Amino acid sequence: MLSTHSIGIFDSGVGGLTIFDHILQVLPEYNYIYLGDNARAPYGNHSFETILEYSWQATQWLFEQNCQLIIVACNTASAKALRTIQQKYLPHFYPNRKILGIIRPTAEVIGQYSITQSVGLLATQGTIVSKSYDLEVSKFFPNLNLYKQACPLLVPLIENNDIFSAGGIYFVEKYVKNLLNQSSKIDTILLGCTHYPIIKTLIENIIKKPKIKIINQGPLVAESLKKYLLKHTEIENLINKQRRVKFYTTEDTSKFLELSKAFFKKNIEVEKINLVSNA
Ligand code: DGL
Repeated sequence: MLSTHSIGIFDSGVGGLTIFDHILQVLPEYNYIYLGDNARAPYGNHSFETILEYSWQATQWLFEQNCQLIIVACNTASAKALRTIQQKYLPHFYPNRKILGIIRPTAEVIGQYSITQSVGLLATQGTIVSKSYDLEVSKFFPNLNLYKQACPLLVPLIENNDIFSAGGIYFVEKYVKNLLNQSSKIDTILLGCTHYPIIKTLIENIIKKPKIKIINQGPLVAESLKKYLLKHTEIENLINKQRRVKFYTTEDTSKFLELSKAFFKKNIEVEKINLVSNA
């Protein structure tokens, strides 16, 4: 186990690697611990209570490994669990630690990409139903129209390596068309799920309109974290800067390694852990 002070990155599985990849590019100097709860992924269709329970267990485990700050690199967990953990659990159990999600840093800037102020959101069922993006985007861009499409089959199709089959493409086309049919003004599509950067080119080929921008969250989250660390020196000073990165999964390590290939191009070693609730 890594006993130095690190930044924790948590996701339901391997999807968070698409975010972590950008964080590592922008902020390579820190120590990191990545935890994927692969044994219980995908989170996308689980209830609020279940995702909160799983996310809180992961949070506690990362804090026990001396993480000073955790990035929830999962839209579904950011949408369904983050607020309760930040507002109810942290002040009581870990008053000096911080946990941040990936919806707010995305919402803060997404309006800057859209000339028509009409943005389409593709995400899991859980993220769409939570209305977290509506809430956060409206704070920063009150006049922006957000059009949404839940894509419940995309994560399973990507994880089963079936997304580029005829059946997989059928569903990507269906979801993208359902989204674009909601308004001809949509000029920006936000990929609001950690798995979707893998199919960015496929979506571009389906739309065939270069004027519609497709936005990955990774760079937005990485820039936001950089600003956060510059502002919060009391946290930044605590994090060790030895460029050490450890990966943990709740599932068989071979499964994590196999799945991660599509998400993260570097060679990695991973250890299996069990998550239990202490609260
Ligand atoms: N990481 C999740 C998200 O960004 C997708 C995978 C899942 O459903 O667990 O919403």
